[in-house]
Amino acid sequence: MGYRIVVVGATGNVGREMLNILAERQFPVAEIAALASRKSMGTEVSFGDKTLTTKDLDTFDFTGWDMALFAVGSEATKVYAPKAAAAGCVVIDNSSLYRYDPDVPLIVPEVNPDAIMGYSKKNIIANPNCSTAQMVVALKPLHDRARIKRVVVSTYQSVSGAGKEGIDELWDQTKSIYNPVDDKPAKKFTKQIAFNVIPHIDVFMEDGSTKEEWKMVAETKKIVDPAIKVTATCVRVPVFVGHSEAVNIEFEDHLDEDEAREILREAPGIMVIDKREDGGYVSPVECVGDYATFISRIRQDSTIDNGLNLWCVSDNLRKGAALNAVQIAETLGTRVLKKG
Ligand SMILES: NC(=O)c1ccc[n+]([C@@H]2O[C@H](COP(=O)([O-])OP(=O)(O)OC[C@H]3O[C@@H](n4cnc5c(N)ncnc54)[C@H](OP(=O)(O)O)[C@@H]3O)[C@@H](O)[C@H]2O)c1
Repeated sequence: MGYRIVVVGATGNVGREMLNILAERQFPVAEIAALASRKSMGTEVSFGDKTLTTKDLDTFDFTGWDMALFAVGSEATKVYAPKAAAAGCVVIDNSSLYRYDPDVPLIVPEVNPDAIMGYSKKNIIANPNCSTAQMVVALKPLHDRARIKRVVVSTYQSVSGAGKEGIDELWDQTKSIYNPVDDKPAKKFTKQIAFNVIPHIDVFMEDGSTKEEWKMVAETKKIVDPAIKVTATCVRVPVFVGHSEAVNIEFEDHLDEDEAREILREAPGIMVIDKREDGGYVSPVECVGDYATFISRIRQDSTIDNGLNLWCVSDNLRKGAALNAVQIAETLGTRVLKKG
């Protein structure tokens, strides 16, 4: 018993975490394949205490495989996800390609697990953007209690959200600041990221917002409730792993900060660390490697009738990508495929 699982993009930040998390959570695996581009063929990646040798995605036959966890970016996904889906292998995709397709469910298992049944239209399930995933885990239980009208969010997003090249650029540029002979100009990011912050993630939209900001709006509506209004400012910061968000929420009904804290303490996937003292909150370096979305600094916003502020931190490679994808695989397994 168990599933035949493919990890596509196994040499990348998210793919490697997928392999770690499948092993950590003892996902019932009968067989596993690790795929990447041809140039990485033969590269070794870890899966628990085993080592897998990476195969070429281009020549892989998905027939007979149960699920493929894709983490390769939209261009490669566009070519290979339909091939996998047509071969009967359910695709769980981390790119943004299918997130807004009405025939593809966009799933955060703590929030909208029932929507997963819509997978059968295309044999594809989408994983949300990293910033959306952690935010909706916190919004959903509060929305169920007091109906959210509007969310104003500012993000502080780590460089690992931009893939392997993002991590390398922060590392190399930080070193080059101390050794200016070895100048490392901005390449992956649009300005210097070391010792700086950049209010620009993904491309600009016509209205002046960025695509990353638009994604948070569209995805929150699709996952939680289309009635919720969201406005976002997304900022890249020189942190390796872990996204942070300052979230302001306006509700229909009054919600006291103490009750909100209790609701969040009980909510799946959330860990509340909220002491009003030095260090009594979570910062991104502390969330790395964890499954939880951490909530701190819960407080009333006295400038509106029914408002709260909070601070939300999570490991973007885990809840923001790999963990959420594995949770989707677990949900699909338990509810539909039943081979575990
Ligand atoms: N990082 C995050 O926080 C995050 C969060 C949510 C979603 N995502 C999404 O997850 C996906 C992967 O992100 P990442 O951060 O893991 O990127 P990454 O570290 O740059 O890794 C990219 C992976 O994709 C493979 N790949 C790229 N083009 C390919 C092709 N044509 N054929 C086969 N394999 C190919 C690479 O293989 P090689 O090593 O052989 O090049 C590598 O394994 C992206 O769609 C991203 O938007 C990322």
